[in-house]
Amino acid sequence: MATRLRALRADITTLSVDAIVNAANSSLLGGGGVDGAIHRAAGPELLAECRLLGGCKTGDAKLTRGYRLPAKHVIHTVGPVWRGGSSGEPELLASCYRRSLELAAANGILSLAFPSISTGVYGYPIELAAAVAVDAVHSSLQEFAAIEEVVFCCFSPGDLLVYGRALNSRTTGAAR
Ligand code: AR6
Repeated sequence: MATRLRALRADITTLSVDAIVNAANSSLLGGGGVDGAIHRAAGPELLAECRLLGGCKTGDAKLTRGYRLPAKHVIHTVGPVWRGGSSGEPELLASCYRRSLELAAANGILSLAFPSISTGVYGYPIELAAAVAVDAVHSSLQEFAAIEEVVFCCFSPGDLLVYGRALNSRTTGAAR
């Protein structure tokens, strides 16, 4: 499979991919963090389309257009709030990645970029979240062979290091 999976450090709103993923909340009506940045960069048309979607459950994802963003689409997903790890957080986080890739595949999206879902305001520890993210994307991609490129878009150099390590251990099979 020719799919490329990698991590980079960037502001996700600048990426020219078919879709960027938004770490939204269940209202889908905007917020802070990456959600706020995406709505600011996309313009008010994005919020208008989001109002029609009727919200989104934790672990699920919904698709909109990208409006003024370089990305053609936005996939809005809702990560779990970290409550210590035994309230289904890993399964819900994995579901965000899986549902986003399912939507991408169903809509002919070939390249997409994920932020580090739930690791900001929602408090999910970054090392644990990166391991879940890499595993979920890696296993989902076996099924969605048409997707060509998946980027983990890290906002800080520290986060990039963590995702780099998680990708590396997935490739080598070490530390699992
Ligand atoms: N590009 C890439 N990553 C970013 C950007 C950006 N422009 N801005 C922030 N990040 P968060 P969550 C990173 O808090 O934890 C919102 O209010 C950030 O450094 O945006 O899932 C929603 O409306 C962190 O690594 O999302 C929800 O209410 C990552 O994005 C709630 O926050 C996720 O941090 C969702 O919380």
